[in-house]
Amino acid sequence: MSVSMRIGIIGGGGWLGGAIAGSILDSGLVNPENLGLSYRNEQPRRFPNSFWTTDNQALADRSDVILLSVRPDDWPLAFDASGRLVISVMAGIRLAALSERHKTCRVVRALPNAAAEVGKSYTPWIGANDVTRDDRALVRAIFETCGIEDEVASESDIDYLTGLSGSGPAFPALLASAMMRDAVARGLPAEVARRAVNTVISAAGRLLERGNECPDDVVQTFLDYRGTTAAAIEGMRTAGFDAAVAEGLSLAFKKSVSMGAAS
Ligand SMILES: NC(=O)c1ccc[n+]([C@@H]2O[C@H](COP(=O)([O-])OP(=O)(O)OC[C@H]3O[C@@H](n4cnc5c(N)ncnc54)[C@H](OP(=O)(O)O)[C@@H]3O)[C@@H](O)[C@H]2O)c1
Repeated sequence: MSVSMRIGIIGGGGWLGGAIAGSILDSGLVNPENLGLSYRNEQPRRFPNSFWTTDNQALADRSDVILLSVRPDDWPLAFDASGRLVISVMAGIRLAALSERHKTCRVVRALPNAAAEVGKSYTPWIGANDVTRDDRALVRAIFETCGIEDEVASESDIDYLTGLSGSGPAFPALLASAMMRDAVARGLPAEVARRAVNTVISAAGRLLERGNECPDDVVQTFLDYRGTTAAAIEGMRTAGFDAAVAEGLSLAFKKSVSMGAAS
C-alpha cells in the first residue's frame, strides 16, 4: 500500500472521522501531508500537518479515496467524486444512493464503531460491484488500522450490524449503568460502585479477547458452576434479558433500514 496515496476524510473533525484519521496516521498508511480533512464550523487543532478545508469538492479533487463521515442527517452533500473510490461510514445510507449522488460506481459502505478511537473497532463493510480488487485491499488496510474488519455479503447484513456492532460499545455501558444503579440503590458508595463495575466490564472484555471463546460457552461454564453467578444469570434471563437484547437489535436494524429508505 503506497504512503503517497491521498486520503480525504469529509467530516474529519468529528468523532469517528477523527478516530480513523488518527489510526491511519499512527499506522503510517499515509503521510500527514497526504491526508486531507474537511470540517464545517471550526477547524479542529488535531493533525496540524494535514490539509484542512471547508470545501468538500476541493478535498474530493485532491484525494485518491474519499471517506465520508458526516452524520446521515447532514447528507446528501454536494461533491462529485468523478469515479473515485468513496467509502461511507454513515449509518443507513445505501450504496445506490451514494453512487448516484457522488457520481462514482466505486462505492463502499462500512460501519465502524466508537472503539476505533482505541484501535479496536469491528468494521463490517460491503462494496458495490464496480469496486476493484485493489479498492477492496485498500478498504481492508484502512479499517485494519483501527481494528478488525469483515467484508459481508449483503447490505442487509450491514443494516443488522449497524445495531449489533456499530452501536455495540454502548451495550456493555448500558449493562454497567444498570449494575451501578443497583449497587448505589443498595447503599454502596458511588465511587466504589463505579470502580467495581468499570473494572468488571473492561476485564470481561480482556478475558473474552484472550480466549476468543463463543460467548455461549462462557455463559454455560458459569451456569455449570452452579454458584451465585448461575443464580444471577438465570434471574436475568427469566426477567427477559435475552428478549430485551433481541428487541433492541431489531429496533436498531429497522432504524438503519428506514434511514436508507429516506435518503
Ligand atoms: N460515532 C460512532 O460510534 C459511529 C459508529 C458507526 C457509524 N458512525 C457514523 O459515522 C458518521 C459520523 O459520526 P460521528 O459520531 O463522527 O459524528 P460527529 O462527531 O458529529 O462528526 C460529524 C462531523 O461532520 C462534520 N460535518 C457536517 N457537515 C459537514 C460538511 N458539510 N462538511 C464538512 N464537515 C461536515 C461535523 O462538523 P461540525 O462539528 O462543524 O458540525 C462533524 O465534525 C455518522 O454518519 C454515523 O452514522 C458513527
